[in-house]
Amino acid sequence: MDAADQLASMGTFQVLKLPLGFIRVLEWLFAIFAFATCGGYSGQLRVSVDCMEKASSNLSIGIDFAYPFRLHQVSFEAPACEGIRRERVFLIGDYSSSAEFFVTIAVFAFLYSLMATIVYIFFQNKYRENNRGPLIDFIVTVVFSFMWLVSSSAWAKALSEVKIATDPDEVQLLIPACKLQTNKCGSVHGPRWSGLNTSVVFGFLNFVLWAGNIWFVFKETGWHKGTTKLAGGASEKQAGTFNQQPYNQGSFDQSGSYNTQGNMSQPSEYSQVGGPTSYSNQM
Ligand SMILES: *[C@@H]1O[C@H](CO)[C@@H](O)[C@H](O)[C@H]1NC(C)=O
Repeated sequence: MDAADQLASMGTFQVLKLPLGFIRVLEWLFAIFAFATCGGYSGQLRVSVDCMEKASSNLSIGIDFAYPFRLHQVSFEAPACEGIRRERVFLIGDYSSSAEFFVTIAVFAFLYSLMATIVYIFFQNKYRENNRGPLIDFIVTVVFSFMWLVSSSAWAKALSEVKIATDPDEVQLLIPACKLQTNKCGSVHGPRWSGLNTSVVFGFLNFVLWAGNIWFVFKETGWHKGTTKLAGGASEKQAGTFNQQPYNQGSFDQSGSYNTQGNMSQPSEYSQVGGPTSYSNQM
């Protein structure tokens, strides 16, 4: 690869400085956080059963559970407080549909935003061809925004229920021996929730990112050009964000501010925004 090629490819990567490309990179990073924190979760709670006849007590019963939170399949052995007999106790609830839905959306969103980033960088021309790329990109972005909202909401609700179902104080109530006043049951510790709370936060952050990116993909479709043409006619230059020179100040502030030079009847905000321009105007 010679120097010229390197320069050319550096120019290509400037795509990532544009909002659309930059947000796509954030999208796949945040998607990884979302599915890794949820899909990789495993937690433990611990309860104690202190029987009247101390010999049969177990003061540290650990109960492990993990993604996808099929809690009705999670069981543990608790003393029956009758000699050495033990009883198998199952937790309650199945939250796998919400958890798996959330992780599935996150994985597909990750794959799509990663693929989109690659297309923006290496296949700009193909992307622009017949406006097909922006069109598909727009539809997929709208769908994923909606899916992020739905799956994050569903997962947030499921998580709040998982928290109750695995609360040591609630789990004690499932143990038959604890229903007798003579036996004392207690909670040793509950599960850690920071990872799963993070996954919900990243779920909603992803929704915000994708919903925000709808606007930037919409600009690429060129549909908005019809309306700006009526309004000003300065839209021709905005044809394609990706075809612009790398060091151009983006496609979004080309609203004609460079035409204001020497025109004293322009609103004063122009001279305030473009600091150096206003100096040249006064001279
Ligand atoms: C207490 O319960 C745990 C399971 O969480 C088990 O491994 C341990 O052997 C039990 N201890 C006694 C004294 O039965």
